[in-house]
Amino acid sequence: MATYRVQEIEDGFYILRVNDRYTNYFEALWEIPEGITYNAYLLKTSEGAVLFDGWKKVYSSQLIDALETVIGPEELRYVVVNHLEPDHSGSLEDVLRWAPNAKVLGSRLAARLIKAFPRARERFQAVGDGEALELGGERIRFIYTPWLHWPETMVSWVETRRILVTCDAFGGYGIPFGLFDDECIRWEDALRAMQKYVVTVIGHYRGWIVKALDKLHKAGIKPRIIAPAHGLMWRKDPGYVMRFYERLARGTPVKGKALVVYGSMYGTVENMVRRLVCAMAREGYSPVVYGFTDSKRPQLSEILTDAIDSEVILIAAPTYEADLFPLIRLVAEEICWKASDGKKAVIVSSYGWGSMAARRLREILEGCNFSVVESIEYNSVGPAGLHLAEVEELAKKVVEALKKGGEA
Ligand SMILES: Cc1cc2nc3c(=O)[nH]c(=O)nc-3n(C[C@H](O)[C@H](O)[C@H](O)COP(=O)(O)O)c2cc1C
Ligand SMILES: [Fe+2]
Ligand SMILES: [Fe+2]
Repeated sequence: MATYRVQEIEDGFYILRVNDRYTNYFEALWEIPEGITYNAYLLKTSEGAVLFDGWKKVYSSQLIDALETVIGPEELRYVVVNHLEPDHSGSLEDVLRWAPNAKVLGSRLAARLIKAFPRARERFQAVGDGEALELGGERIRFIYTPWLHWPETMVSWVETRRILVTCDAFGGYGIPFGLFDDECIRWEDALRAMQKYVVTVIGHYRGWIVKALDKLHKAGIKPRIIAPAHGLMWRKDPGYVMRFYERLARGTPVKGKALVVYGSMYGTVENMVRRLVCAMAREGYSPVVYGFTDSKRPQLSEILTDAIDSEVILIAAPTYEADLFPLIRLVAEEICWKASDGKKAVIVSSYGWGSMAARRLREILEGCNFSVVESIEYNSVGPAGLHLAEVEELAKKVVEALKKGGEA
């Protein structure tokens, strides 16, 4: 059984949060040993209550228990579905069975997806972009924000309180002790949790964040609280969080940050990478290094989190069965798909009798808007064959290419 929390964060506005410690691979993909929360929100008014989103299916009965601590089933008038991915909509049918009067509100595109939910389909009412719901003295405006994270997504602006309910947008991984970003956590850790969620989940569609933020600014929306469906609520400095989110959306690099990812079966590539990392650090870069070896396997989710704001990405791998070392092929393709943004890339590879890794890496990286500033290859079937003087020469070549390829 998961633990959950119900807290009235201000008069009539509640967070209902369940702590999921069991999902180790979010969307069956992203390693999250830190866990995840699903946050629903409840607004209680004199004319009934509005529930924003829900929990994953396995927590349905607990969500109903949580709701019962605040309202009776007849009181629930609306369930707003900002997003229909099952981590938020899995509980929808059970909530509707419990609450006989509740209507379901979502975007026009949600109307198409809602057919997967027999009860919700019957009670669904589409809201227009910018349309408002007035209830018991509260005004809630719905703003379409497509592709954050599916096409149907929207955010709910509780105008009367200046609370922005954003579902996946501004969400973060982890099961924080506190509910808000100014409680029990380092600000940088809270932001990192959000960075990891945005690159893994919204990743490929990040460009839509820029459009959504622009739309919110133009509508004069300046939230006092940002209330996402995962992780912490943001109240310390929502304006800063929005600017930070926009930087992530644009892939704006942190000056000098260099992501280094390598695979190495017997240490040849690893030994080369060591030299390169030292050479780059001497030039003022801050390398963040992840190596796949016979003793360690880093998490793709963390690699992507560091890819999004790196200025340079160095990818290194040996040739394997006349092709690229497979784990690095996956990493390179995912970095391409989620975090390329026209960044500088350096390719490092080694081979025994017929080079292929470097060519494959170039194909992948250039196919996705990377600018490959240098590609080096080394011929050796083991680290003992490495001539360090030669590797130092290669390191110099890489550093020179980086300097030419743009400011560090
Ligand atoms: C399982 C395996 C498959 C390999 N396949 C190739 C290959 O197809 N072509 C090639 O030129 N070298 C191949 N090699 C040699 C490696 O590319 C070479 O030894 C490289 O320097 C290994 O680097 P590492 O020690 O960092 O893994 C292979 C080596 C192993 C262990
Ligand atoms: Fe989602
Ligand atoms: Fe989600």
